[in-house]
Amino acid sequence: MARPRVLSGIQPTADSFHLGNYLGAVRQWVTLQETHDAFYCVVDLHAITVPTEPDALRRRSRVAAAQLFAAGLDPERSTIFVQSHVREHSELAWILNCLTGMGEAARMTQFKDKSAKFGESAASVGLFTYPILQAADILLYQANRVPVGADQKQHLELTRDLGGRFNHRYGETFTLPEPYILKEVEKITDLQEPTAKMSKSSSSPAGILDVLEQPGPLRKKVMRAVTDTGSEVLFDEENKPGISNLLRIQSALTGTSIPDLVARYEGQGYGTFKKDVAEAVVEAFSPIRERTEKLLSDEKELDRMLAIGAERASAVARETMAQVRDRVGFLPTL
Ligand code: TYM
Repeated sequence: MARPRVLSGIQPTADSFHLGNYLGAVRQWVTLQETHDAFYCVVDLHAITVPTEPDALRRRSRVAAAQLFAAGLDPERSTIFVQSHVREHSELAWILNCLTGMGEAARMTQFKDKSAKFGESAASVGLFTYPILQAADILLYQANRVPVGADQKQHLELTRDLGGRFNHRYGETFTLPEPYILKEVEKITDLQEPTAKMSKSSSSPAGILDVLEQPGPLRKKVMRAVTDTGSEVLFDEENKPGISNLLRIQSALTGTSIPDLVARYEGQGYGTFKKDVAEAVVEAFSPIRERTEKLLSDEKELDRMLAIGAERASAVARETMAQVRDRVGFLPTL
């Protein structure tokens, strides 16, 4: 029997992924390539929904791809590609735009959050239709599962709604995907503001742990992470959001359960615990940083790997789009 298919995407909007991207998404991508037919893309079309310098976009797209390979995605087993290389993403997004209600799109909370930064009328229409392009990414590949963090739940609901609507209107065409979200790591929070999601657009870099950051600054940031009153290492999201976040991180990185960690640090205070968290982060990130640097030193080879991914992805996307065009009623090209 064919393996179930998995698809996910990540934006090239920063010079490094951060710990939230890594624990919430990329690590699951690596695991899922063992059991799934895996497609992962660097979503550059999504990146330009906010103003972006062309040179920065080129650099960040390569850095993103390199980090994916460096994190353990195997080009033999997974199809790693850049979204804009597969033209069908934009084409399907247009068709799905025409199936989406204005009110339906306006309910997307991520648009509301992001556009609040620019003022709603200054935000681009592309930012408004961002989740519809995301739906196209997923539906094009007939994905069964989509590994993401909790912030993407609403976009995946929209994807299912749009896929279902198309199927209902034009006949069974799309597989409706299930989100794949690991509860323990679905929302890694900011080290300085432990009730807010760790995010590229955070107000201070001190709250974000970047995968490509050097050990020195990583350690410093963990040691300076906002902790809570009291001195005991306990998991209590409400009263100890800072320590609870660090416990979640430590547990995910070392494979030790949270209750076991709590028992281990009993009576030891925050200092020893934070030191160990810092070491676990450095240990996880250093090999990825080193492999990323190596991959980036040979851009030609990296571009070649992405060309192979684009070819494999295009073969699937073309097949879906041929069917979609016909179902919608577009004339065939002879
Ligand atoms: P992006 O680049 O903003 O985020 C990439 C992935 O990282 C997850 N994530 C987190 N998980 C846990 N804790 C955090 N603090 C944290 N911050 C980010 C995100 O949930 C995401 O899984 N819209 C997508 C990109 C996309 C996509 C797709 C995803 C475009 N097309 C198709 C899946 C399928 C996004 O948020 O990217």
